Amino acid sequence: MNIVIFGPPGAGKGTQSNFIVKKYKLHQLSTGELLRNEIRNKTDLGKKISSLMNSGKLVSDQVVSNLIEKFISDNKYNNRLIFDGYPRNKLQANNLKDLLKKYDQEIDLVLKLSISLDAIKKRITGRSVCSICGKIYNKFFNPAPVNSECCASKFLQKRSDDTLDIAVTRYQTYEKNIAPVIDFYKQTNLLRVVNGERSIVEISKEISDLIEGIKG
Ligand code: AP5
Ligand code: MG
Repeated sequence: MNIVIFGPPGAGKGTQSNFIVKKYKLHQLSTGELLRNEIRNKTDLGKKISSLMNSGKLVSDQVVSNLIEKFISDNKYNNRLIFDGYPRNKLQANNLKDLLKKYDQEIDLVLKLSISLDAIKKRITGRSVCSICGKIYNKFFNPAPVNSECCASKFLQKRSDDTLDIAVTRYQTYEKNIAPVIDFYKQTNLLRVVNGERSIVEISKEISDLIEGIKG
């Protein structure tokens, strides 16, 4: 089973992907995380994309496509991928279809998490991520456990693009590009729209039901 999950910044793509990974033993392929890894590792690519990412704009389609093909072509992940934050425009949607076809795979479910710009503000400004295990927290809605060794406060990091200004631009970038992606998946009948403004648990429950539905 391959799943696509998309939605605006702060919609909960990463949070729900973590849940799906654990419950259904899939592999999360977050293009944002792959790109941040390039920056953390100070690769040539990382140096090129760092200011672009911190401006809230999209990295080039070709760069992201090269990164995801490595996973799609790897037998270890065959039909076990959750695409978090890919595709983000029509070209990427077409590209994903072609890449999956090339490796004899397809998409089984597309989840669109919907949320307003107003509702994402506290999610973005309150977010921190554990640098050890990658778990996502929020000081307002989902604080890290107090006595945890792994997710202790010294290991929690903020993302450099998690300022209000950049989040607004990221939201606008999303809105500007996403309509053709929605149309694309509506035509395939794979699209399910999930209200992302509810609690994490409520959203996970709906996503579980949708996945169980396609597993039959
Ligand atoms: P990316 O890393 O994908 O960022 P994004 O799309 O802006 O989304 P976020 O990761 O901010 O939000 P999320 O939906 O994962 O929310 P989360 O679960 O963390 O991309 C970053 C950049 O990389 C892009 O701007 C672009 O430059 C580049 N890029 C990436 N993919 C690309 C592509 N395909 N093509 C070109 N460029 C690309 O939750 C957010 C917070 O809210 C957390 O604190 C969480 O604890 C909390 N939370 C989650 N759910 C709930 C809930 N239901 N109730 C309350 N709080 C909640
Ligand atoms: Mg994310």
